Amino acid sequence: MCSDVYEAASAVPEADYDIVYTSTGALDWLPDVRKWAEAAASLVAPGGFLYLAEFHPFTHVLGDHSGTAIEHGYFRPGPVVEDLPGTYADFNAPTVHNLSYEWMHTLGDIVSAVAAAGLRLEFLHEHDMTLFQRVSELNEGADGYWRMPEGRPRLPLMFSLKASRSRVRSRPGKAPGYGPAT
Ligand SMILES: C[S@@+](CC[C@H](N)C(=O)[O-])C[C@H]1O[C@@H](n2cnc3c(N)ncnc32)[C@H](O)[C@@H]1O
Repeated sequence: MCSDVYEAASAVPEADYDIVYTSTGALDWLPDVRKWAEAAASLVAPGGFLYLAEFHPFTHVLGDHSGTAIEHGYFRPGPVVEDLPGTYADFNAPTVHNLSYEWMHTLGDIVSAVAAAGLRLEFLHEHDMTLFQRVSELNEGADGYWRMPEGRPRLPLMFSLKASRSRVRSRPGKAPGYGPAT
């Protein structure tokens, strides 16, 4: 099925699910991370969980393919607008309509959005490997993942998060942890 993720609840056949999964590269394409968390959390059944695997927001400070020098700020509200050929699936693909918009949500924004949506954080794991050559220094291992070479500083390149709903669903509007941002 295909749907705007913000409207996922009305697109899927069941009211809720034991596991709700958001995969890599999804959050940067969404302007509103709180709205994503609310949509995802609304589909988690009592006793179920949300699992998110994502590229680590720390990597947003690095240049696109130029190395590990810090080129961008970590805190970048508003969209990052680019007009470059190629796609994330094939950097060298000849493409025509190249204007793109991405939102660099911080790790704090993401975790806080999940908590605000009423889920309980089970773990937040940070990983020193990623799925592609995010910067030129990375080497591909025998396992197919990309890491910094031996002897170089290990950087957080991905993270994974598990957040669960208690077995008793809270009443709408009374989700635990929901309140003014601090
Ligand atoms: C970088 S891709 C990642 C796709 C996939 N997770 C992967 O690893 O190949 C981001 C995807 O988010 C989709 N997307 C962007 N905004 C969306 C929205 N509002 N609702 C649903 N999907 C959306 C895009 O169509 C695109 O397929």
